[in-house]
Amino acid sequence: MPSTAITGIGQLITNDPSLGRGPLGTVPDAALVMEDDRVVWTGPSRRTPATDSHHDAAGRTVLPGFVDAHSHLLFAGDRTEEFAARMSGRPYTAGGIRTTVAATRRATDAQLAANLAALLREMLRQGTTTVETKSGYGLTVEDEARALRVARAHTEEVTFLGAHVVPPELAATPDAYVALVTGPMLDACAPHARWIDVFCERGAFDADQARAVLTAGLARGLSARVHANQLGPGPGVRLAVELGARSADHCTHLTDADVAALADSGGRTVATLLPGCEFSTRAPYPDARRLLDAGAVVALATDCNPGSSFTSSMPFCVAVAVREMGMTPEEAVWSATAGGAASLGRTDIGRLAPGARADLVLLEAPSPVHLAYRPGVPLVAAVWRGGRREV
Ligand code: NIG
Ligand code: FE
Repeated sequence: MPSTAITGIGQLITNDPSLGRGPLGTVPDAALVMEDDRVVWTGPSRRTPATDSHHDAAGRTVLPGFVDAHSHLLFAGDRTEEFAARMSGRPYTAGGIRTTVAATRRATDAQLAANLAALLREMLRQGTTTVETKSGYGLTVEDEARALRVARAHTEEVTFLGAHVVPPELAATPDAYVALVTGPMLDACAPHARWIDVFCERGAFDADQARAVLTAGLARGLSARVHANQLGPGPGVRLAVELGARSADHCTHLTDADVAALADSGGRTVATLLPGCEFSTRAPYPDARRLLDAGAVVALATDCNPGSSFTSSMPFCVAVAVREMGMTPEEAVWSATAGGAASLGRTDIGRLAPGARADLVLLEAPSPVHLAYRPGVPLVAAVWRGGRREV
């Protein structure tokens, strides 16, 4: 197995406080050695062991690859006109999802796969090495199952979101749609998915319907994540905590009881915040500071989708979270890496210590703070995924 060293790292972000200083476990003047798909050594650059090949970081920063724990990449078409109308004052509603459902149903498997591959490549170029992605724009047994099959060829973090909205053909009988999702659709989709998700929101699914969807998925061996409290206050966050969901996503409109429930879960339910969504819908941002001060575990993700957040950029989310959501630069970097890993229940990613996956980003910057300090600047100079140079 050939080994590769990266030496001369100005700041190595390990996310392991036992390896370096501060909450990011920062090691100055560091080196890292990878072998096969794993990190096998980290330490001071001058003590780097001999390796087969070698890369000089020249004082720049190395951090774990970003973990984007929430995206919707299985779709066709876009919603440019809806976005432009919104920017001239029209509000965002979940109704736009149906526009994408119509386009996605018309698309061939090859078109869906090509769109997914292009977005994943775009993400990789911006330093994202793990991506969770969801169905939810098919909303028939066949269209949901094929979306998950296409996704499964690219990532293990596949989520069944048949309960995104009620499709137009069943608008008059929403409970019949819930029965379809929890019955034949789950049968067809569960083999391709790791996660079950539901959009628990006014205009989508209420608490009883969301509970039915999540418990059916859990009974089938899937793990739960929930679209919760995005457009207004509601039961989603508390349902997520109660059912032991790994993540409550959005968390934009929270009561004190919601915040306490997330904090009291002791990190079992991570609050995954999606700043691209508020940016693109001109909505108030979630209050990350309030969650962090209460002791909740916070992740950042893109929510990449054609309606509410058509960004694939984790660096953009870090910058917005720092500027608008009360996070320190260090907290935002942690949440975009280790936080995402926690939201996916993964311990092999989101950190750079011996034994972890060799998923890492070389930043054209002396410190990770530059991700927020230099918004919109393409700072990602190189990316290794599973020990392979990809960018
Ligand atoms: O996470 N909240 C529900 N689903 C997406 C939006 C999907 C769309 O507008 O197409 C979200 O924001
Ligand atoms: Fe989403």
